[in-house]
Amino acid sequence: MKVEMMTVAYIGATILFILSLGGLSNPETSRRGNLFGIIGMTIAVVATLMGPKITGVGNFVNIMIAMGIGATVGIIAAMRVQMTQMPELVALMHSLVGLAACLVGFANFIDPSPTTFSAAEKTIHEVEIYVGILIGAITFSGSLIAFGKLSGKIGGSPLLLPARHFLNLLLLIGVIWVGRWFLHAESISAGMVPLLIMTVLALLFGVHMVMAIGGADMPVVVSMLNSYSGWAASATGFMLSNDLLIVVGALVGSSGAILSYIMCRAMNRHFVSVIAGGFGTGTGKSPAKGDAAGPQGEVQPISAAETAELLRNSESVIIVPGYGMAVAQAQHTVCEITKLLRDKGIKVRFGIHPVAGRMPGHMNVLLAEARVPYDIVFEMDELNDDFPNTDVSMVIGANDIVNPAAQDDPDSPIAGMPVLEVWKAKTSIVMKRSMASGYAGVDNPLFYKENNKMLFGDAKKMLDEVLINLSK
Ligand code: TAP
Repeated sequence: MKVEMMTVAYIGATILFILSLGGLSNPETSRRGNLFGIIGMTIAVVATLMGPKITGVGNFVNIMIAMGIGATVGIIAAMRVQMTQMPELVALMHSLVGLAACLVGFANFIDPSPTTFSAAEKTIHEVEIYVGILIGAITFSGSLIAFGKLSGKIGGSPLLLPARHFLNLLLLIGVIWVGRWFLHAESISAGMVPLLIMTVLALLFGVHMVMAIGGADMPVVVSMLNSYSGWAASATGFMLSNDLLIVVGALVGSSGAILSYIMCRAMNRHFVSVIAGGFGTGTGKSPAKGDAAGPQGEVQPISAAETAELLRNSESVIIVPGYGMAVAQAQHTVCEITKLLRDKGIKVRFGIHPVAGRMPGHMNVLLAEARVPYDIVFEMDELNDDFPNTDVSMVIGANDIVNPAAQDDPDSPIAGMPVLEVWKAKTSIVMKRSMASGYAGVDNPLFYKENNKMLFGDAKKMLDEVLINLSK
């Protein structure tokens, strides 16, 4: 394939990747987005394989064998993974991108083929290699630790070494100092020593950074590592002078960074405070788990039969799912209840908070799996003004995302976090097993409101009972 043809193919692939990202931003268009991504990647791989840089049958065969092994592992992993294991699989994939960036960096550095670089070009090329290996090594070790935490192989609680910020600063200064040494090295073997030292420092930094972050903040970290893996791929593109890799890496890098920012904003936390780690230790304002804040009033319990009665007699219902629905795997029963209510002419809608559950789009994925129609699933901002005109708001295993303290209590650890205003409906029903707090570890004044009822028990079990009563 001629270079011009390959450039056209690369531009086509880039457009498809942009369309893919656009499609993935909405559940209704996400399948199309996925398809665009698959076609774009196929074009990119075929154009690269047929391009002028792959010379000789031997090289071609080697690449095909490597691709065959990679594709087999990928297909088996994708077929075996459970929905709840998706974040850990993604973390593992990111570690491979980081490893690839490191290996390409070292291969590029020791490449014996003659180059026609001027002194300035040589320096730029060496900076590309240094930065590429640096980002790659941080992504590699950080992603492996994230995988370990998400899969339970490493404890979820944050590791807080004394003077850990100072330690990070020391590592950064070390990397800059070694970088200067690397750029002044006279030969490949002399440059190898600082390059290896930097790689070890970067690996240590990746481990230390992610070890300091609590298990529940891992979704933000995975999204951040996704961003890093994009920049690592981009750096690899510079090393290999491959424009497509530069552009695609930048797309992944920036979209990952934007997603991390959106998650932090929806939790009303600063990105830096998440990355600095320590949330969930119990030493700060907000313990992460348990009911440390303690109940602050009387609650009104309700039975499944009474819940069914309230739902049956309403005209408009808003369902707010949260982490507990995912734990109980109650989405299919929720879908059946929705069908029954809609058949009776009751208006049913779902309100989704951007950080409901424990990963981006967690609730959307579960509801789509249960085949809840997309057109009744709304984002928080689209629905919040409608609660005063709603008869029943039904909260299924959610807590922080419906906590009025975020609006009313300026001292609350979640003060300022946008929440779904379920308490503004005529009646709100909260379904959970106990009075325990949610991820942020704060008490929820919603439970004690006059128009609020508590349906205690496992969400799946209680919803099954509600369904039986509704069907009677
Ligand atoms: P949470 O505030 O964690 O509340 C979930 C509630 O579900 C708990 O209070 C728990 O109460 C209940 N629950 C657990 N298992 C249950 C079961 N089997 N049946 C019924 N209820 C059950 O969750 P949320 O409201 O979805 O909010 C998400 C939180 O995670 C936010 O604080 C957010 O900042 C944080 N977070 C989210 C993300 C993303 S990307 N989604 C990332 C990082 C952090 P009981 O134990 O009493 O049942």
